Amino acid sequence: KVLILDFGSQVTQLIGRRVRELNIYSEIHPYNKPPEDIDSYKAVILSGSPLSVRGDNVAHPNLKKIQGNKPLLGICYGAQYLAHFGGGKVAESNTREYGRANLSYVNDNELFRNISNGSQVWMSHSDTIKELPTNSKLLASTHDVENAAFKIEGEQTYAIQFHPEVYHSKDGTQLLENFLVHIAGVVQDWTPDSFVEETVSNLKEQLGNDKVVLGLSGGVDSSVAAMLLHKAIGENLYCIFVNNGLLRKNEFSGVLEQYKGMGLNVKGVDASARFLEALEGESDPEKKRKAIGRVFIEVFDDEAHAIENVTWLAQGTIYPDVIESVSVTGGPSATIKSHHNVGGLPDYMKLKIVEPLKMLFKDEVRRVGKSMGMDKELLGRHPFPGPGLAIRILGDITSEKVRILQEVDAIFINGLKENGLYDKVWQAGAILLPVQSVGVMGDERTYENCVALRAVESTDGMTADWVNLPYEFLQKTSNAIINRVKGVNRVVYDISSKPPATIEWE
Ligand code: XMP
Repeated sequence: KVLILDFGSQVTQLIGRRVRELNIYSEIHPYNKPPEDIDSYKAVILSGSPLSVRGDNVAHPNLKKIQGNKPLLGICYGAQYLAHFGGGKVAESNTREYGRANLSYVNDNELFRNISNGSQVWMSHSDTIKELPTNSKLLASTHDVENAAFKIEGEQTYAIQFHPEVYHSKDGTQLLENFLVHIAGVVQDWTPDSFVEETVSNLKEQLGNDKVVLGLSGGVDSSVAAMLLHKAIGENLYCIFVNNGLLRKNEFSGVLEQYKGMGLNVKGVDASARFLEALEGESDPEKKRKAIGRVFIEVFDDEAHAIENVTWLAQGTIYPDVIESVSVTGGPSATIKSHHNVGGLPDYMKLKIVEPLKMLFKDEVRRVGKSMGMDKELLGRHPFPGPGLAIRILGDITSEKVRILQEVDAIFINGLKENGLYDKVWQAGAILLPVQSVGVMGDERTYENCVALRAVESTDGMTADWVNLPYEFLQKTSNAIINRVKGVNRVVYDISSKPPATIEWE
C-alpha cells in the first residue's frame, strides 16, 4: 500500500483517486499524524499545500523514517519541502505560476518514462524552487519553471513542482505509475473486489457483535454502504428509511421494496406530516435545510432508541460531502451550503460513527456496488439532495406544491429514461419557482406556476455544466408537463453552469 501525507491541498484526494485508478491501494493521513506502522507502506507521496515552507507555521514533520529508506515523491509543496529542508532554496516567485505549462526539458530518467518533452502539466504555486537541494539532479523543466522536477541522488526521492493528479496534467497518471510501479515496485492489485473484501473484513473486526444503525436515503451512497455492512454483520445492521414527504413520486414504497429484496433488515418510517409541519411558512433555504436536518434527527433518534444496545451509526458519506463542508487545514472555510448529512449528529446520541465510503468518489462507489452485484438501476440513480424537493420548491413548502413538483419531476425523469438520456445526465430534476405568470388555455386566461428543468453533467458535483438536451425532447416534455400537471402553465430550461451557479437553486 501507498501512504499519501496530506499537507492540506484541495486536490490531495485526487492523488488517492489516481493511485486507485492504477489499482493500487492508498491511504491519506494528515502530515502531522502519520501512521505508526510506516514500514508497511511501500511508497510515500507528499501532497501540495496552501502553506509556504517559508512561513512561520511551516508544516515540518519528521521524515527520517521515510526519506532515504523508501521511495518518496514530493508534489508541489512536497517538492518545495524536500528542497527547502534539504539544503536548497525556495523563494517567492516573481511570476505567478498557475495553470497550463509544457515541459521544455526532460532528461532520460525513470520518473518520466514514456513522457515526452512538450507534455502538458498543471502548475499551481506561488513559491518556487530557486536552488535544488544538496546532491540532487534536475529531471525536467518547463519554460517558466526551471526546477520543475528533481531526484536526490543515492535515494529513491523524487520531487515535482506540478500536479500530476489533476486531469490537466496529461501524463500525470503515467508519472504516478512510473513512480509507484516502476520505481517503487508496488503491485497493482487494488480493485473494487478487493476493496469490498478488505472493507468487509475490517468492518467485521471493527464492529464485532455490535449493533449498527444506518439511515437509508434511496441513493447510491447509503445503499452501497448498507450492502458492505450487511455483508460484514448481517442482521446486526438496522436500516431506517425515512419518508420526509419530499422524495420523488412513489419513491418511498418502490425503494423500500427494493431494499427488502436485497435482504436488508430495513424499517420504513413515514414521517411526511412531521416534516411538512416543521417547514410550514419557512422560506429561507438554510432554515429549511436546518429544519429538515433537525426533524430527521428527531425521527431517526426515536427509531434508533427503539433498537436495544445499538452503539454505532453508519453513514454513506463520500468524499465530496466532506470537502465542501469542512476545511482540510482546520481553518475557517466558507460554508457554501450546509449539507445536512455531514456532521449532523447530536452529541446526546453518543453513537460511534462508521463511514466505509468516506475516501471514495461517486464513480468509485458505483464500481464497488457493481462488484457486489447490486442492481444497475439503483447504482445508476442520479444523486438526490438530502432535503429533497424542499430545496427545489423555492420559498415556502405546502403539500400542494410538493404534489405539483412530484408530478413535473416524474414526467421529466421518466422522459429522460424513455429517451435513453438518463444515463447521459449526471443529475436532473425540476424546480418549482415562486413565480406565477399569465397563460392561455383554451379560451381562458390562466395565472399559474412556472417550473424550471435542470439537467447537468458533472463528475463529482463540484463543477457542472448544463446538458444540451435535444430540442425535440424538451418540446415533448414541456407539452406533457403543461397538459398533465394542473397548476403549471410555463416551463423553462436552466442553462447555467457551476460555477458560478450551483446545481440546486437553493
Ligand atoms: P450544489 O447545489 O451545491 O449541489 O451545486 C451539489 C450537489 O450537492 C447536492 N446538494 C445537497 N445534498 N444535502 C444534500 O445531501 C443538501 O443540503 C444539498 N444541497 C445540494 C446537489 O443535489 C448536488 O448533487
